[in-house]
Amino acid sequence: METVQDPQVAAASAPLPAEPLVSVRKLTMAFGARVIQRDLDFDILSGEVLAIAGGSGCGKSTLLRHLIGLQAPAAGQVLYGDRDLYAADAAEQRQLMQTFGVTFQAGALWSSMTVGENVMLPMQLFTEMDAAQCEHEARFKLALVGLGGSFDAEPATLSGGMKKRAAIARALALNPPLVFLDEPSAGLDPLASANLDELILHLRNDLHTTVVMVSHELESIFTVADRLLFLDAQSKTMTALGPPKELRRSGPEGVQTFLRRGATTSRETTS
Ligand SMILES: Nc1ncnc2c1ncn2[C@@H]1O[C@H](COP(=O)(O)OP(=O)(O)O)[C@@H](O)[C@H]1O
Ligand SMILES: [Mg+2]
Repeated sequence: METVQDPQVAAASAPLPAEPLVSVRKLTMAFGARVIQRDLDFDILSGEVLAIAGGSGCGKSTLLRHLIGLQAPAAGQVLYGDRDLYAADAAEQRQLMQTFGVTFQAGALWSSMTVGENVMLPMQLFTEMDAAQCEHEARFKLALVGLGGSFDAEPATLSGGMKKRAAIARALALNPPLVFLDEPSAGLDPLASANLDELILHLRNDLHTTVVMVSHELESIFTVADRLLFLDAQSKTMTALGPPKELRRSGPEGVQTFLRRGATTSRETTS
């Protein structure tokens, strides 16, 4: 029987480079005696978009904090190459932490600074660039995320989608090969959300940026993610890792259920 290859399936199942940028080994995350997730074991592969999903409160944001050096594991390791983020000394840790950009769940722009100043801040903190270079680079980053005219704007005057984009521009300030985005499309209208998906694909396809993205939005997951890591709230561990469409077809039952919510979406069928 002849089958028509779905381009999204083809893209999602294209062979990925095997090289891991980050390796998570037997990671257990806890607050005091309360274990949030245990035995997480996965790699972040160079050039991929890895989505992290799971029920509310299962530990997605907590996992991001472990990946970016803000919360030490109760057990296990977060390795950048062969360097253990939490065994590194302060200088090495600082160096490793400059290899990635981050946006937080709430966006978290400094409201007392203009958009441009927000984007320039990491450059001023971590590089020797002079003021003119910082401004040039910040304007370039804002143009990249579609905010070319917003350098002098106050964050409060931006729409939700524009704030998320500005936060991504700031995350890209130091040209990191890797960015972590916590629920980048949460709270956005469908159009802003689709635009953000496009930006994420642009980062991956044109800048070869590796993207780790917490998301519970199916449209977004099916549109941009090469692989999905699913954290299960009940068993408190990962129950699936793979291309989203494969997991929807043949993943564990709970993951299939999660990925079939609302069945096929309009954005998915029209893209
Ligand atoms: N600082 C904290 N102290 C204690 N418990 C926390 C803290 N932050 C989060 N938690 C708990 O850890 C669990 C996972 O939280 P979180 O990672 O924010 O979930 P998610 O991002 O998946 O919705 C939740 O039950 C939350 O209440
Ligand atoms: Mg969260």
